[in-house]
Amino acid sequence: MKKLYIGTNTKMTKTIQETKEFLSTLQTLTASLKDDITLFVIPSYTTLVEAKKTIVNDAILIGSQNMCWAERGQYTGEISPLMLKEIGIDIVMIGHSERRHVFLEDDNVEALKVSSAIEHGFIPLLCIGETKEEKDSGISNEILRKQLIVGFSKVNKNNVKNIIVAYEPVWAIGVNGEPASSSYVEAKHKVIKATLKEIFKDISINIPVLYGGSVNLENSKELIKQDSVDGLFVGRSAWDANNFNTLIRQVLPVWKEKGNKNG
Ligand code: PGA
Repeated sequence: MKKLYIGTNTKMTKTIQETKEFLSTLQTLTASLKDDITLFVIPSYTTLVEAKKTIVNDAILIGSQNMCWAERGQYTGEISPLMLKEIGIDIVMIGHSERRHVFLEDDNVEALKVSSAIEHGFIPLLCIGETKEEKDSGISNEILRKQLIVGFSKVNKNNVKNIIVAYEPVWAIGVNGEPASSSYVEAKHKVIKATLKEIFKDISINIPVLYGGSVNLENSKELIKQDSVDGLFVGRSAWDANNFNTLIRQVLPVWKEKGNKNG
C-alpha cells in the first residue's frame, strides 16, 4: 500500500520553542502511524536546527520554506542549499503561493530552485495554483501546465527520484480562502498528472500530487477520497498537533479504503 503524504507549512507562525513543542507532541501522537504515512513539517528557517534535533529516526521529515538556488555569493537575506544541507533538511518547498504573490517570484526563479534542490539531494516540493482571476477567465489548466513545464524545465528528466507537487489554488488558501470542492480538485489533479506524464514519462507515476488550501476536519475525507489526490498539504488546521493528529487519523482509513479499491 502506498503511503499517504501529509504535511504542514507553519508559515511565519511559530518560534523555536513553539516549533519544538509542536513537533514533539506530533511525533508522539503519530508514532503508531509511521508505516502508513509520510509526514512532513515545514517550519521557519530559524527553527530548523532545533526541529531536526527534535525528530527521532526521521519519523517526521523536515522542510525549509524556501531556498536560494546559488551556493554562495552576493544574495543578502537568502539561505543557500549548503546551509540547509548542513542542518540535514529533507524537503525544500518551492513556489508557495505567498512566495509567488507576496514576494513576486516567477516560474523561472522556481525552476532554478527546483533544479538546485535536486542537485543538492533535497526533495523539492513544488507548489502550483491559479489565482481567482485566472480561474474566472477559464485559464486555470494553462496556468497549471505552465507552472509545471517551466518549473521542471531545468531538471534532468531521467534522474528524478523524489519530487512532490502540491496543488494549492491561490483563492483557496488562508483566512480569506474558499475551500475548493473535491470534484474541482480531482479535475485539476488530473490535468497536473497528465502534464507530469508529458514531462517525466513513466517516472511521473512516482510523483505524489498533494492538495492544499483550507483543508480542514470537515473536507479532508472527501478530498482524500478522490482518485488523483495522493496526499494533503495543510495550513491552519495542522498548527495544533492534536488537531493535526485527529485530521490524519480520520483521513487514513479513507486513504486505505481507496487503495484497496484501486488495487
Ligand atoms: P491553509 O494554508 O490550509 O491555512 O489555507 C494552506 C497553505 O498555504 O499551504
